[in-house]
Amino acid sequence: MKILVTGGAGFIGSHLCEELVKNKNNSVYSLDNYSTGTKKNHVEGVTYIQGETKNIDNLIDFNPEIVYHLGEYSRVEQSFDDIEKLWGSNKDGIFAILQFCRKHSSKLVYAGSSTKFGDGGIGRNQSPYAWTKASNTELVKNYGDWFGLKFAITYFYNVYGGREISTGKYATLIALFKEKYKNREPLTVVSPGTQLRNFTHIDDIISGLIMVGEKGSGDNYGIGCSESFSILDIANMFDTKIKMLPERKGNRMTSKVECEKIKILGWSETKSVLDYIESFKNNNK
Ligand SMILES: NC(=O)c1ccc[n+]([C@@H]2O[C@H](COP(=O)([O-])OP(=O)(O)OC[C@H]3O[C@@H](n4cnc5c(N)ncnc54)[C@H](O)[C@@H]3O)[C@@H](O)[C@H]2O)c1
Repeated sequence: MKILVTGGAGFIGSHLCEELVKNKNNSVYSLDNYSTGTKKNHVEGVTYIQGETKNIDNLIDFNPEIVYHLGEYSRVEQSFDDIEKLWGSNKDGIFAILQFCRKHSSKLVYAGSSTKFGDGGIGRNQSPYAWTKASNTELVKNYGDWFGLKFAITYFYNVYGGREISTGKYATLIALFKEKYKNREPLTVVSPGTQLRNFTHIDDIISGLIMVGEKGSGDNYGIGCSESFSILDIANMFDTKIKMLPERKGNRMTSKVECEKIKILGWSETKSVLDYIESFKNNNK
């Protein structure tokens, strides 16, 4: 079957493409604008199309059975500075994707974010990014009902693993800590440091996404590790120096994990961030 992954050159999208292409019955395509994605993440056997999701109708003329929509602007704190870019990617983008899926009778699997649960949903939201993600889930649900579109909505919880961005403005936490540890620099923790997160390994995210693509329907497929750690807990696991940074806007304190629905599909978590950091330290003594 033909499957389209938006954001296929990014962190999660490249792992998804890698898994999907293992099934020889699949033809896998990626649509990516390479804003944070990179050609280094390309996987053999996947067809890569360069462009913006908001222009999908001009870029893709085949009928994918499934569209995994991961290609969105995806950083919380930075989204205050990048609001125009965010709007073009996440709001113009989702509308074009929905219209495309309707036209081609594709099933849409949307990559929502757990920030929806920690940040007050689409009501009083703590960051532009989190608001776009939460409001997009509402739009997908309504659009699905209005037009009979097949859809499933997933929510990822702080994903870590290979190919995470480790340097620069868009680096993510575990990769950034690993990089600083290797360079013998102190790990930087945004105050107060007690904010809780459910770090989830990329392999567990991908197994969940594939299940949802095959069998999922409707909202509420949270994919996350049940154990939560504070950012300071994570930094302390590295046993090295820590430097506290001032508080930042948009940094939520809690996170509530909702994985009941995906467990019905047979999903379970298999990896722990504690083991991941321990094994990284052993390999980098
Ligand atoms: N990483 C996490 O912890 C996490 C948590 C919750 C939700 N998510 C969601 O998962 C998805 C993938 O995140 P990621 O961590 O792999 O991020 P990422 O930045 O590595 O990947 C996003 C990919 O989408 C591409 N992209 C961005 N805007 C685009 C656009 N307008 N048109 C085409 N391509 C575009 C980027 O170039 C990149 O390749 C995002 O939708 C993100 O919101 C991620």
